[in-house]
Amino acid sequence: MKVITYGTPFATDAVVRPCPVGDQLQHFTYTETDILRIFSCPLGDKAIVYGLGETMRGINKRGGRYVSYNTDTANHQENTPSLYGSHNFLIVDDPDSGCFGAFFDTPSRVTFEVDWKGSGALTVSCEGQGLRLYLLEGETAAEITHEFREAIGRSYIPPLWAFGFGQSRWGYKTEKDFDDVVSGYRNHHIPLDWICMDIDYMDRFIDFTVHPKRFPDLKAYADKLRQEGVRLVPIIDAGIKIEPGNETYDVGAANGYFCLNHEGKPFQAAVWPGLTHFPDFFQPEARAWFGSRYQVLTDKGIEGFWNDMNEPSIFYSEYNPKGAIGRLKDLIHPQEAETGENSTYQDYKNFYHRIDGELVLHHEVHNLYGALMTRASGEGLEQLLPGRYLLFSRSSYIGAHRYGGIWTGDNSSSWALLKQNLYHMPGLNMCGFLYTGADTGGFGGNADRELLLRWLALSAFTPLMRNHTALGTRRQECYQFGDTQAFANVISLRYRLLPYLYSEFMKAALNGEMYMQPLGFVWPQDENARACEDQLLVGQCVMIAPILEQGALTRKVYLPTPMTEVRWDGARFRTRAAAQGWRDITVPLDEVVFFLRDGAAIPVGGPAQCTDQVSLEQVQLLGPGSTYQQYLDDGQTREYGPDHIRTLTRA
Ligand code: GLC
Repeated sequence: MKVITYGTPFATDAVVRPCPVGDQLQHFTYTETDILRIFSCPLGDKAIVYGLGETMRGINKRGGRYVSYNTDTANHQENTPSLYGSHNFLIVDDPDSGCFGAFFDTPSRVTFEVDWKGSGALTVSCEGQGLRLYLLEGETAAEITHEFREAIGRSYIPPLWAFGFGQSRWGYKTEKDFDDVVSGYRNHHIPLDWICMDIDYMDRFIDFTVHPKRFPDLKAYADKLRQEGVRLVPIIDAGIKIEPGNETYDVGAANGYFCLNHEGKPFQAAVWPGLTHFPDFFQPEARAWFGSRYQVLTDKGIEGFWNDMNEPSIFYSEYNPKGAIGRLKDLIHPQEAETGENSTYQDYKNFYHRIDGELVLHHEVHNLYGALMTRASGEGLEQLLPGRYLLFSRSSYIGAHRYGGIWTGDNSSSWALLKQNLYHMPGLNMCGFLYTGADTGGFGGNADRELLLRWLALSAFTPLMRNHTALGTRRQECYQFGDTQAFANVISLRYRLLPYLYSEFMKAALNGEMYMQPLGFVWPQDENARACEDQLLVGQCVMIAPILEQGALTRKVYLPTPMTEVRWDGARFRTRAAAQGWRDITVPLDEVVFFLRDGAAIPVGGPAQCTDQVSLEQVQLLGPGSTYQQYLDDGQTREYGPDHIRTLTRA
């Protein structure tokens, strides 16, 4: 990897390894306008463009236009240009001319046009004061990704319980609401490990408060659920309600920890609690202070959090009071966002950060805001908790992957967004985000039984597996759809596979490898594998080919090599040899089918209702292979390392 510097780039800390300076630009031609630095290269007909993390459309980014400018985009669709995170790393993989990777490291807005409108070119236009362009060479996309991952530092490692199934819904308010969820799952023998507390647990949506009537003794309540094998995971929003007398507000205001308006006063913008100030996460002292505030909840036995609204999302501001109307229009007509102008964007030019004694316009460094919130929380939780913490954020930039995971924001209950969940995974892994997943079943809209079951069969393999849905939508807990046996079957697969999934996740994190990768990463010479957009490898031994179409009981699967087909029916695994080439599989709603690579064996465990009951040690080998290298640790402490490997051998 080599780096070339343009202008005066902002130090994002995305890359943590020293990197030699490149003497001349390769692959791209470079032009400049008053406001843009433009990099362009031709794309061969067969070139695949991998990467770009959280962007819409397929694994191969060809044919699209993607804008890195973190945006709260509920209702996103295939042509939505900006989502919640900015991940400016891509690989061009051309069978005729070879592979290279490029990371456009700038917190300002970047636009990627990838064979857009049939241009036959990749064009990357960067705004802002400057950037660092990192260029990577290698034989394969997998090799380049590995080098990039080593350069950006080790991915965040959650506790084992965070690999259990999580239930969430915007609208749970009282202890009774949470009790109902626990009994709903336990009574129907559907495994469950954690429940998210959305904004209603707080006192009037004020961060680091607990609603006094709804949770009179949160510590006692959290301890009670913990006895039942369930943890509570509260939400924390970016904005702090303007309310003198509230400790977070008072200390933040007294110490100058909030972002400023052009008059040098704290900037005011409305989010859930009404008017708020945004913490200035660019100041190290503000980060340390914000991170330490989580103690209010860790003192009550909380070990995990989700950070939200940190693009930051703004409903309206002191300078843009009509923004609220614009926001409504954005929601009703999301396709208009394709023009690139969202009503919130005006606000991003109306506030400032204090960085090394200088005032810096938010717009210039916008894409780093959520990442720095994650860093503040991660560093805080590391001090506050003796072991590992669960943390996932909505907004992100590369670098945040060292402190927490992400979820992919406000999707909706549609087959298109289920597919998008699969497409997102490899691009996110390339950028270091391993602990990630989507709102299973969909956030907006109303899921039906079939969609939720098929979605669970995919998210059983994604590290973050959480069912989450919006206020006002159909109840989406797995016991709300009639016969619950099918749900118990699908989610129990996750728990049976935990010894394998956890081991593969840990190896991927510790060795800078992909946890979920496209087939083209493993079989770059195989044209069918390269073209495959709806199958993924999970770890080194498993291939998944989920059903992604409404009404489909069967689908075509491509096997680049002979494999073992595995069918899970809720009680047992049935295996059979499957020849190389195209195969048809039939998958009833209450079963899951996946494949083991030729000659592989994977460790599987016994039945469990929560991760407390999972043993990573008492495992059996599934598949025709005779050995497996299992990563094994306590799943709780930070004592992880590459030496925690044992060789399992078939007796
Ligand atoms: C945002 C989040 C969503 C959450 C809601 C209420 O839309 O993305 O997950 O449920 O806010 O807090």
